[in-house]
Amino acid sequence: MRAATHETYGTPDVLTLSEVPRPTIGDHELLVEVRASVVTHGDRRLRAADFPGVGVVVGRLMFGLFRPRHRVPGTMFAGRVVAVGKAVTRFAAGDDVFGSCDRGAQAEYLAVRADKAVARMPEGLDYAEAAALPYGAGTAVVFLRDLAKVQPGERVLIVGASGGVGRLAVQLAHHLGAEVTGVCSRDHDLVRELGATHVIDHTVADYTQAGQRYDVIFDTSPKNRFCASRKALAPKGRYLQLHMSTGLLFMMAMTALFGGRRALTGVALGNRKLVEDVRDLAAQGALRAVIARRYPLERVAEAHAFLESGRPRGSVVVDVARAAERPLSAQGAILQVA
Ligand SMILES: NC(=O)c1ccc[n+]([C@@H]2O[C@H](COP(=O)([O-])OP(=O)(O)OC[C@H]3O[C@@H](n4cnc5c(N)ncnc54)[C@H](OP(=O)(O)O)[C@@H]3O)[C@@H](O)[C@H]2O)c1
Repeated sequence: MRAATHETYGTPDVLTLSEVPRPTIGDHELLVEVRASVVTHGDRRLRAADFPGVGVVVGRLMFGLFRPRHRVPGTMFAGRVVAVGKAVTRFAAGDDVFGSCDRGAQAEYLAVRADKAVARMPEGLDYAEAAALPYGAGTAVVFLRDLAKVQPGERVLIVGASGGVGRLAVQLAHHLGAEVTGVCSRDHDLVRELGATHVIDHTVADYTQAGQRYDVIFDTSPKNRFCASRKALAPKGRYLQLHMSTGLLFMMAMTALFGGRRALTGVALGNRKLVEDVRDLAAQGALRAVIARRYPLERVAEAHAFLESGRPRGSVVVDVARAAERPLSAQGAILQVA
């Protein structure tokens, strides 16, 4: 089968298209013919061995000390089940599924365990839209619903509201009944359309100095602003940070011990319930994907480069279906969907 591969860690040009053996499946696995994957900052980190904060040692130990242990990238997928293992009862050949995996989604076929982060696709979505959901939506669910336990009527500030996680976090917070403020320097109209009542441009104003109080501040940008954000938090407010640094872990422990305003961080790991919850939220119309560009599999390096340097205004999709099945122009040009 055709697959994107990389033998070394590095910049997007380490990625190449190769012929590799099709995965075989065990009794508890599905073989998925991948139709779409998206390139995320998680993929970028795994490709470049750019593990943030305390993850620097653990990341190398888990994913390969000097070179990637798994050479096929891609952690988000949507596609069609073409075979199931003997013990699988949840799925059957012909089912359209989506979800997340450790590695290997930017290839024509992917083997996934049926009890892991895979679910039937939400009705009415195409493969690209389904593949674009689990990254931002799964993270937003873990942080806002499960960690911060956002309640109706609470005031929620999303730092990085225009980003891959932020776009879904705005929608989820709105769906949970919060009054949402987005912080970003672009796509203000989109962020409002996704559910924010207010938008703050961080290049002209500092939310920590604006005299407003929030119940939850969800910070998706790399800077730990817990100390600066304290005065913008309500007395029982929660500051959530996507980047797990030692400083933040220390503040998390201290604030858990002494109460009051809390610092929280964590890692959103895909699992069956999470992807099913994302499916249900999408089916209700509470969450939708925004797609910036689509690239065919053979241009996967360009897709990674665009994510890094292009400030994409939406998800960067890799269309994995073979050329004959792919909805691309004869020249294989990039489809700029939005
Ligand atoms: N812990 C976890 O489980 C987990 C899960 C998913 C992702 N992550 C990490 O979270 C990070 C964000 O991911 P993403 O996909 O959302 O990234 P992204 O698409 O690049 O979005 C980053 C956002 O940060 C905003 N931003 C940049 N500088 C800012 C500043 N100085 N002040 C306020 N906002 C600023 C940008 O807004 P403008 O461009 O509009 O200014 C943009 O909306 C990545 O590093 C990723 O690895 C962690």
